[in-house]
Amino acid sequence: MSHNFPELKNDLFLRALKGEEVERPPVWMMRQAGRYLPQYMVLRKKYTFFERVETPELACEITIQPIDELEPDAAIIFSDILTVPQALNIDVQMVPGKGPVMGNPIRTEDDAFAILAEDVAQKLQHVMDAITLTRKELNGRVPLIGFAGAPWTLFCYMVQGEGSKNFDKAKAFLFQHPDASRHVMKELTKATIDYLRAQVDAGAQAVQVFDSWAGLLSPDDFNEWAMPYLMEITHAIRDVPVILFAKGAWYALERLSFKSGAAALGLDWTISPEFARLKSRSEITLQGNFDPTHLLAPIPEIRKQTRRMIDRFGARRYIANLGHGILPHVPVDHARAFVDSVKEYGSGE
Ligand code: CP3
Repeated sequence: MSHNFPELKNDLFLRALKGEEVERPPVWMMRQAGRYLPQYMVLRKKYTFFERVETPELACEITIQPIDELEPDAAIIFSDILTVPQALNIDVQMVPGKGPVMGNPIRTEDDAFAILAEDVAQKLQHVMDAITLTRKELNGRVPLIGFAGAPWTLFCYMVQGEGSKNFDKAKAFLFQHPDASRHVMKELTKATIDYLRAQVDAGAQAVQVFDSWAGLLSPDDFNEWAMPYLMEITHAIRDVPVILFAKGAWYALERLSFKSGAAALGLDWTISPEFARLKSRSEITLQGNFDPTHLLAPIPEIRKQTRRMIDRFGARRYIANLGHGILPHVPVDHARAFVDSVKEYGSGE
Protein backbone atom coordinates (compact mmCIF):
# COMPACT_ATOMS: atom_id res chain seq x y z
CA MET A 1 0.00 0.00 0.00
CA SER A 2 1.47 3.36 -0.86
CA HIS A 3 0.53 6.63 0.78
CA ASN A 4 1.78 10.10 0.10
CA PHE A 5 2.69 11.16 3.61
CA PRO A 6 4.25 14.53 4.45
CA GLU A 7 8.04 14.52 4.74
CA LEU A 8 9.47 13.72 8.19
CA LYS A 9 11.04 16.76 9.88
CA ASN A 10 12.30 15.20 13.11
CA ASP A 11 13.99 11.84 12.53
CA LEU A 12 15.99 11.67 15.81
CA PHE A 13 13.95 8.71 17.07
CA LEU A 14 14.39 6.67 13.86
CA ARG A 15 18.08 7.53 13.73
CA ALA A 16 18.62 6.40 17.32
CA LEU A 17 16.89 3.13 16.45
CA LYS A 18 19.34 2.64 13.58
CA GLY A 19 22.28 3.49 15.83
CA GLU A 20 23.24 6.62 13.91
CA GLU A 21 24.94 9.63 15.48
CA VAL A 22 22.42 11.98 17.11
CA GLU A 23 22.79 15.48 18.53
CA ARG A 24 20.96 14.33 21.68
CA PRO A 25 18.87 11.28 22.59
CA PRO A 26 15.23 11.34 21.43
CA VAL A 27 12.47 11.20 24.05
CA TRP A 28 8.87 9.98 24.28
CA MET A 29 6.78 8.56 27.13
CA MET A 30 4.81 5.33 27.32
CA ARG A 31 1.11 6.21 27.77
CA GLN A 32 1.92 9.80 26.82
CA ALA A 33 -1.68 10.17 25.63
CA GLY A 34 -3.74 9.74 28.75
CA ARG A 35 -5.34 10.87 31.94
CA TYR A 36 -2.66 13.29 33.19
CA LEU A 37 -3.59 15.57 30.25
CA PRO A 38 -6.63 17.85 30.86
CA GLN A 39 -7.42 17.81 27.13
CA TYR A 40 -7.65 13.98 27.27
CA MET A 41 -10.03 14.20 30.24
CA VAL A 42 -12.41 16.37 28.17
CA LEU A 43 -12.76 13.60 25.55
CA ARG A 44 -12.83 10.91 28.25
CA LYS A 45 -15.99 12.50 29.72
CA LYS A 46 -17.72 12.54 26.33
CA TYR A 47 -16.89 9.10 24.92
CA THR A 48 -16.31 5.58 26.27
CA PHE A 49 -12.81 4.11 26.06
CA PHE A 50 -13.53 1.94 23.02
CA GLU A 51 -15.42 4.78 21.30
CA ARG A 52 -12.19 6.77 21.60
CA VAL A 53 -10.13 3.83 20.31
CA GLU A 54 -12.50 2.89 17.47
CA THR A 55 -13.16 6.37 16.06
CA PRO A 56 -10.13 7.28 13.92
CA GLU A 57 -10.70 11.04 14.31
CA LEU A 58 -10.75 10.72 18.13
CA ALA A 59 -7.76 8.35 18.26
CA CYS A 60 -5.87 10.77 16.00
CA GLU A 61 -6.73 13.80 18.12
CA ILE A 62 -5.71 12.00 21.35
CA THR A 63 -2.44 10.78 19.78
CA ILE A 64 -1.49 14.35 18.84
CA GLN A 65 -2.48 15.95 22.17
CA PRO A 66 0.84 15.16 23.91
CA ILE A 67 2.76 16.18 20.76
CA ASP A 68 1.18 19.65 20.90
CA GLU A 69 1.55 19.90 24.68
CA LEU A 70 5.04 18.49 25.29
CA GLU A 71 6.71 18.10 21.88
CA PRO A 72 8.35 14.70 22.40
CA ASP A 73 10.26 13.14 19.47
CA ALA A 74 7.73 10.40 18.62
CA ALA A 75 3.98 9.83 18.70
CA ILE A 76 2.38 6.48 19.64
CA ILE A 77 -1.02 5.70 18.21
CA PHE A 78 -3.81 5.86 20.78
CA SER A 79 -5.26 2.36 21.01
CA ASP A 80 -4.93 -0.61 23.34
CA ILE A 81 -3.25 -4.01 23.38
CA LEU A 82 -6.65 -5.59 24.06
CA THR A 83 -7.89 -4.90 20.51
CA VAL A 84 -6.32 -8.23 19.44
CA PRO A 85 -8.26 -10.33 22.00
CA GLN A 86 -11.39 -8.51 20.78
CA ALA A 87 -10.58 -9.58 17.22
CA LEU A 88 -10.30 -13.15 18.57
CA ASN A 89 -13.87 -12.92 19.88
CA ILE A 90 -13.02 -12.14 23.50
CA ASP A 91 -15.46 -9.56 24.84
CA VAL A 92 -13.47 -6.73 26.49
CA GLN A 93 -15.05 -3.93 28.52
CA MET A 94 -13.00 -1.09 30.02
CA VAL A 95 -14.59 -0.44 33.41
CA PRO A 96 -13.66 3.00 34.81
CA GLY A 97 -11.82 2.62 38.12
CA LYS A 98 -11.26 -1.11 37.55
CA GLY A 99 -9.64 -1.55 34.14
CA PRO A 100 -10.29 -4.24 31.53
CA VAL A 101 -12.87 -6.98 32.17
CA MET A 102 -13.46 -9.91 29.79
CA GLY A 103 -17.01 -11.27 29.49
CA ASN A 104 -15.92 -14.69 28.19
CA PRO A 105 -12.41 -15.49 29.45
CA ILE A 106 -10.67 -18.75 28.51
CA ARG A 107 -11.47 -21.24 31.28
CA THR A 108 -11.44 -24.65 29.55
CA GLU A 109 -9.36 -26.40 26.90
CA ASP A 110 -12.32 -26.08 24.53
CA ASP A 111 -12.31 -22.30 25.08
CA ALA A 112 -8.60 -22.25 24.28
CA PHE A 113 -8.86 -24.34 21.11
CA ALA A 114 -11.73 -22.12 19.92
CA ILE A 115 -9.28 -19.19 19.63
CA LEU A 116 -8.45 -18.81 15.92
CA ALA A 117 -6.63 -15.91 14.27
CA GLU A 118 -8.87 -15.08 11.33
CA ASP A 119 -9.04 -11.75 9.49
CA VAL A 120 -7.51 -9.95 12.47
CA ALA A 121 -6.19 -6.92 10.56
CA GLN A 122 -9.51 -6.65 8.71
CA LYS A 123 -11.47 -6.66 11.96
CA LEU A 124 -9.17 -3.94 13.33
CA GLN A 125 -9.35 -1.73 10.24
CA HIS A 126 -10.26 1.22 12.48
CA VAL A 127 -6.73 1.11 13.96
CA MET A 128 -5.21 1.25 10.45
CA ASP A 129 -7.51 4.14 9.55
CA ALA A 130 -6.43 5.96 12.73
CA ILE A 131 -2.75 5.40 11.85
CA THR A 132 -3.12 6.66 8.27
CA LEU A 133 -5.10 9.71 9.40
CA THR A 134 -2.59 10.47 12.18
CA ARG A 135 0.37 10.23 9.79
CA LYS A 136 -1.32 12.89 7.65
CA GLU A 137 -2.32 15.10 10.57
CA LEU A 138 1.12 14.91 12.19
CA ASN A 139 2.37 16.51 9.00
CA GLY A 140 5.84 15.00 9.47
CA ARG A 141 6.44 16.60 12.88
CA VAL A 142 7.55 13.30 14.45
CA PRO A 143 7.43 9.60 13.51
CA LEU A 144 4.40 7.50 14.47
CA ILE A 145 4.81 4.30 16.52
CA GLY A 146 2.35 1.41 16.17
CA PHE A 147 2.11 -1.31 18.83
CA ALA A 148 0.69 -4.61 19.98
CA GLY A 149 0.69 -6.71 23.12
CA ALA A 150 2.97 -9.76 23.28
CA PRO A 151 1.30 -13.18 23.24
CA TRP A 152 2.14 -13.94 26.89
CA THR A 153 0.70 -10.63 28.14
CA LEU A 154 -2.47 -11.01 26.03
CA PHE A 155 -2.84 -14.60 27.27
CA CYS A 156 -2.71 -13.24 30.85
CA TYR A 157 -5.77 -11.04 30.26
CA MET A 158 -7.65 -13.57 28.11
CA VAL A 159 -7.42 -16.28 30.78
CA GLN A 160 -7.51 -14.22 33.97
CA GLY A 161 -10.45 -12.20 32.61
CA GLU A 162 -9.33 -8.99 34.34
CA GLY A 163 -6.23 -7.17 35.55
CA SER A 164 -4.31 -8.85 38.38
CA LYS A 165 -1.11 -8.49 40.37
CA ASN A 166 -0.01 -12.08 39.81
CA PHE A 167 -2.30 -13.44 37.04
CA ASP A 168 -2.62 -16.64 39.07
CA LYS A 169 -5.42 -18.13 36.94
CA ALA A 170 -3.46 -17.50 33.73
CA LYS A 171 -0.31 -19.12 35.14
CA ALA A 172 -2.28 -22.06 36.53
CA PHE A 173 -3.90 -22.63 33.11
CA LEU A 174 -0.49 -22.49 31.43
CA PHE A 175 0.95 -25.23 33.61
CA GLN A 176 -2.21 -27.38 33.74
CA HIS A 177 -3.01 -27.17 30.02
CA PRO A 178 0.27 -26.71 28.15
CA ASP A 179 -1.03 -27.96 24.78
CA ALA A 180 -4.11 -25.76 24.82
CA SER A 181 -1.94 -22.84 25.99
CA ARG A 182 0.51 -23.42 23.16
CA HIS A 183 -2.37 -23.31 20.71
CA VAL A 184 -3.46 -19.91 22.08
CA MET A 185 0.11 -18.55 21.93
CA LYS A 186 0.45 -19.66 18.30
CA GLU A 187 -2.83 -18.03 17.28
CA LEU A 188 -1.88 -14.85 19.18
CA THR A 189 1.46 -14.80 17.38
CA LYS A 190 -0.23 -15.15 14.00
CA ALA A 191 -2.76 -12.46 14.90
CA THR A 192 -0.04 -10.08 16.11
CA ILE A 193 2.09 -10.48 12.98
CA ASP A 194 -0.95 -9.84 10.78
CA TYR A 195 -1.90 -6.81 12.92
CA LEU A 196 1.58 -5.24 13.06
CA ARG A 197 2.19 -5.74 9.33
CA ALA A 198 -1.10 -3.99 8.61
CA GLN A 199 -0.10 -1.13 10.94
CA VAL A 200 3.14 -0.73 9.00
CA ASP A 201 1.24 -0.74 5.69
CA ALA A 202 -1.08 1.91 7.16
CA GLY A 203 1.86 4.16 8.05
CA ALA A 204 3.46 3.10 11.38
CA GLN A 205 7.19 3.97 11.18
CA ALA A 206 8.27 1.75 14.10
CA VAL A 207 6.41 -0.74 16.27
CA GLN A 208 6.66 -1.62 19.94
CA VAL A 209 5.63 -4.97 21.41
CA PHE A 210 4.48 -4.72 25.04
CA ASP A 211 5.19 -7.80 27.17
CA SER A 212 4.04 -6.05 30.32
CA TRP A 213 3.80 -9.22 32.40
CA ALA A 214 7.05 -10.92 31.35
CA GLY A 215 8.32 -10.42 34.92
CA LEU A 216 5.76 -12.93 36.23
CA LEU A 217 7.59 -15.78 34.51
CA SER A 218 10.71 -17.61 35.68
CA PRO A 219 13.64 -17.43 33.24
CA ASP A 220 12.90 -21.00 32.06
CA ASP A 221 9.20 -20.30 31.63
CA PHE A 222 10.01 -17.09 29.76
CA ASN A 223 12.21 -19.11 27.40
CA GLU A 224 9.39 -21.56 26.79
CA TRP A 225 6.28 -19.36 26.84
CA ALA A 226 7.33 -15.88 25.76
CA MET A 227 10.66 -15.77 23.94
CA PRO A 228 9.87 -18.00 20.91
CA TYR A 229 6.74 -16.00 20.08
CA LEU A 230 8.52 -12.65 20.53
CA MET A 231 11.23 -13.88 18.17
CA GLU A 232 8.72 -15.01 15.60
CA ILE A 233 7.05 -11.60 15.69
CA THR A 234 10.23 -9.50 15.46
CA HIS A 235 11.59 -11.61 12.61
CA ALA A 236 8.30 -11.29 10.72
CA ILE A 237 8.35 -7.46 10.78
CA ARG A 238 10.99 -6.54 8.24
CA ASP A 239 10.30 -3.01 7.06
CA VAL A 240 10.41 -0.98 10.28
CA PRO A 241 12.36 -1.21 13.55
CA VAL A 242 10.80 -3.27 16.35
CA ILE A 243 11.12 -2.27 20.01
CA LEU A 244 10.58 -5.05 22.54
CA PHE A 245 9.46 -4.02 26.00
CA ALA A 246 9.50 -7.09 28.24
CA LYS A 247 8.78 -5.55 31.62
CA GLY A 248 10.50 -7.27 34.53
CA ALA A 249 12.50 -9.58 32.25
CA TRP A 250 15.92 -8.30 33.26
CA TYR A 251 17.01 -11.92 33.43
CA ALA A 252 16.35 -12.30 29.68
CA LEU A 253 18.17 -9.16 28.51
CA GLU A 254 21.08 -11.04 27.04
CA ARG A 255 18.89 -13.44 25.05
CA LEU A 256 16.53 -10.67 23.96
CA SER A 257 19.44 -8.64 22.72
CA PHE A 258 21.31 -11.41 20.91
CA LYS A 259 18.46 -13.56 19.61
CA SER A 260 15.27 -11.55 19.30
CA GLY A 261 16.07 -9.57 16.16
CA ALA A 262 14.74 -6.38 17.79
CA ALA A 263 16.18 -2.94 16.94
CA ALA A 264 15.75 -1.81 20.53
CA LEU A 265 14.86 -3.09 23.98
CA GLY A 266 12.60 -1.20 26.36
CA LEU A 267 13.71 -1.33 29.98
CA ASP A 268 11.91 -0.84 33.27
CA TRP A 269 13.49 1.02 36.19
CA THR A 270 14.66 -2.06 38.08
CA ILE A 271 17.59 -2.38 35.65
CA SER A 272 20.64 -0.14 35.98
CA PRO A 273 21.98 1.39 32.75
CA GLU A 274 25.36 -0.26 33.38
CA PHE A 275 23.80 -3.72 33.81
CA ALA A 276 21.67 -3.25 30.68
CA ARG A 277 24.67 -2.18 28.56
CA LEU A 278 26.75 -5.04 29.96
CA LYS A 279 24.12 -7.66 29.09
CA SER A 280 23.18 -6.33 25.66
CA ARG A 281 25.00 -6.04 22.35
CA SER A 282 26.76 -2.75 21.75
CA GLU A 283 24.76 -2.32 18.55
CA ILE A 284 21.29 -2.55 20.12
CA THR A 285 19.45 0.61 21.15
CA LEU A 286 18.14 0.78 24.71
CA GLN A 287 14.97 2.65 25.67
CA GLY A 288 13.83 3.70 29.13
CA ASN A 289 13.81 3.65 32.09
CA PHE A 290 12.86 6.54 34.35
CA ASP A 291 10.69 5.35 37.26
CA PRO A 292 7.28 6.93 36.43
CA THR A 293 6.72 7.60 40.15
CA HIS A 294 9.83 9.80 40.17
CA LEU A 295 7.81 12.24 38.03
CA LEU A 296 6.06 13.14 41.30
CA ALA A 297 9.35 14.46 42.75
CA PRO A 298 10.02 18.23 42.66
CA ILE A 299 10.93 19.53 39.19
CA PRO A 300 14.64 20.25 39.92
CA GLU A 301 14.98 16.66 41.12
CA ILE A 302 13.32 15.32 37.94
CA ARG A 303 15.73 17.36 35.82
CA LYS A 304 18.75 16.16 37.78
CA GLN A 305 17.75 12.51 37.65
CA THR A 306 16.92 12.69 33.95
CA ARG A 307 20.37 14.06 33.14
CA ARG A 308 21.97 11.41 35.32
CA MET A 309 20.04 8.68 33.51
CA ILE A 310 21.33 9.88 30.11
CA ASP A 311 24.89 10.25 31.46
CA ARG A 312 24.76 6.61 32.48
CA PHE A 313 23.17 5.16 29.32
CA GLY A 314 25.23 7.38 27.03
CA ALA A 315 23.64 9.64 24.41
CA ARG A 316 24.16 7.21 21.51
CA ARG A 317 21.94 4.16 20.84
CA TYR A 318 19.61 5.45 23.48
CA ILE A 319 15.99 6.62 23.59
CA ALA A 320 14.89 8.37 26.76
CA ASN A 321 11.54 7.12 28.08
CA LEU A 322 9.87 6.06 31.30
CA GLY A 323 10.26 2.54 32.66
CA HIS A 324 6.46 2.05 32.30
CA GLY A 325 3.41 4.19 31.51
CA ILE A 326 3.01 7.70 32.94
CA LEU A 327 0.71 7.78 35.98
CA PRO A 328 -2.62 9.67 35.84
CA HIS A 329 -1.79 12.03 38.74
CA VAL A 330 1.50 13.36 37.31
CA PRO A 331 1.32 17.16 36.86
CA VAL A 332 1.77 18.17 33.20
CA ASP A 333 4.65 20.47 34.21
CA HIS A 334 6.52 17.51 35.65
CA ALA A 335 6.09 15.52 32.43
CA ARG A 336 7.31 18.59 30.56
CA ALA A 337 10.37 18.87 32.83
CA PHE A 338 11.30 15.30 31.92
CA VAL A 339 10.92 15.84 28.15
CA ASP A 340 12.66 19.24 28.25
CA SER A 341 15.64 17.96 30.26
CA VAL A 342 16.29 15.35 27.59
CA LYS A 343 15.95 17.93 24.83
CA GLU A 344 18.38 20.27 26.60
CA TYR A 345 20.90 17.49 27.23
CA GLY A 346 24.38 18.43 26.11
CA SER A 347 23.40 22.05 25.45
CA GLY A 348 25.07 23.23 28.68
CA GLU A 349 21.74 23.58 30.53
O1 CP3 B 1 1.26 4.87 25.13
C1 CP3 B 1 0.29 5.48 24.65
O2 CP3 B 1 0.05 6.68 24.88
C2 CP3 B 1 -0.60 4.76 23.65
C3 CP3 B 1 -1.77 4.22 24.21
C4 CP3 B 1 -1.82 2.95 25.02
C5 CP3 B 1 -2.91 2.65 25.85
N1 CP3 B 1 -2.76 1.38 26.30
C6 CP3 B 1 -4.02 3.56 26.14
C7 CP3 B 1 -4.81 3.34 27.35
C8 CP3 B 1 -0.96 1.86 25.04
C9 CP3 B 1 0.39 1.68 24.38
C10 CP3 B 1 -1.58 0.87 25.84
C11 CP3 B 1 -1.02 -0.46 26.05
C12 CP3 B 1 -1.57 -1.31 27.10
N2 CP3 B 1 -2.88 -1.51 27.43
C13 CP3 B 1 -0.79 -2.19 27.89
C14 CP3 B 1 0.68 -2.38 27.77
C15 CP3 B 1 1.43 -1.28 28.41
C16 CP3 B 1 1.36 -1.35 29.90
O3 CP3 B 1 0.86 -0.37 30.48
O4 CP3 B 1 1.86 -2.32 30.45
C17 CP3 B 1 -1.66 -2.87 28.76
C18 CP3 B 1 -1.27 -3.89 29.81
C19 CP3 B 1 -2.97 -2.45 28.44
C20 CP3 B 1 -4.24 -2.92 29.04
C21 CP3 B 1 -4.94 -1.83 29.71
N3 CP3 B 1 -5.55 -0.77 29.07
C22 CP3 B 1 -5.14 -1.66 31.10
C23 CP3 B 1 -4.60 -2.61 32.16
C24 CP3 B 1 -5.88 -0.50 31.27
C25 CP3 B 1 -6.46 0.03 32.55
C26 CP3 B 1 -5.44 0.65 33.42
C27 CP3 B 1 -5.67 2.12 33.52
O5 CP3 B 1 -4.69 2.87 33.39
O6 CP3 B 1 -6.82 2.50 33.74
C28 CP3 B 1 -6.09 0.07 30.00
C29 CP3 B 1 -6.79 1.33 29.69
C30 CP3 B 1 -6.05 2.37 28.94
N4 CP3 B 1 -5.31 2.15 27.82
C31 CP3 B 1 -6.05 3.76 29.23
C32 CP3 B 1 -5.28 4.37 28.23
C33 CP3 B 1 -5.01 5.83 28.06
C34 CP3 B 1 -6.78 4.41 30.38
C35 CP3 B 1 -8.20 4.52 29.99
C36 CP3 B 1 -8.84 5.69 30.65
O7 CP3 B 1 -9.29 5.50 31.79
O8 CP3 B 1 -8.89 6.74 30.04
